[in-house]
Amino acid sequence: MIRALTVALALLAGPALADGAALFANHCAVCHGTEGRGDGPTSTWLIRKPADLTRLAVDNNGVFPVLRTLVRIDGRDPLMRSDIAMPAYGPVLGGEAVEVMIETGQGVLVPSELAEVLMWLVSIQED
Ligand code: HEC
Repeated sequence: MIRALTVALALLAGPALADGAALFANHCAVCHGTEGRGDGPTSTWLIRKPADLTRLAVDNNGVFPVLRTLVRIDGRDPLMRSDIAMPAYGPVLGGEAVEVMIETGQGVLVPSELAEVLMWLVSIQED
């Protein structure tokens, strides 16, 4: 399932894995750590610890939670919006709209930079 999603995302978003890694390093690693394990420099003093982003699939019965991850990053998830620890990245991640397939098989349009970060997150999932 995870592999299939990776392929689907790669087809939809193009050769953008390196861009996703760079975006993550710039915007997210300070909290989530360079490898996404939730151990960035700020994690020592944040009251609510940044999530270990390598476990999103494992903690969701082996299925990468595409839609949840998208809305948590862009800030449309009301649960995340009330969480002051993580900024909303909707206004930050731009680019042309690309289609990403969510768990239901539906396609949703997201800015290409958000799709690139998502692809990178899929690529770092633990088995
Ligand atoms: C200021 C620190 C900070 C920054 C910067 C940050 N995050 Fe977070 N993030 C958090 C915290 C805190 C949580 C909440 C952890 C929890 O759910 O208990 C979180 C949660 C998440 C979740 C939800 C995980 C889940 O279980 O659904 C995702 C996905 C995520 N972050 C991705 C990102 C991405 C991608 C970026 C960069 C574009 C980013 N974060 C930048 C602190 C941060």
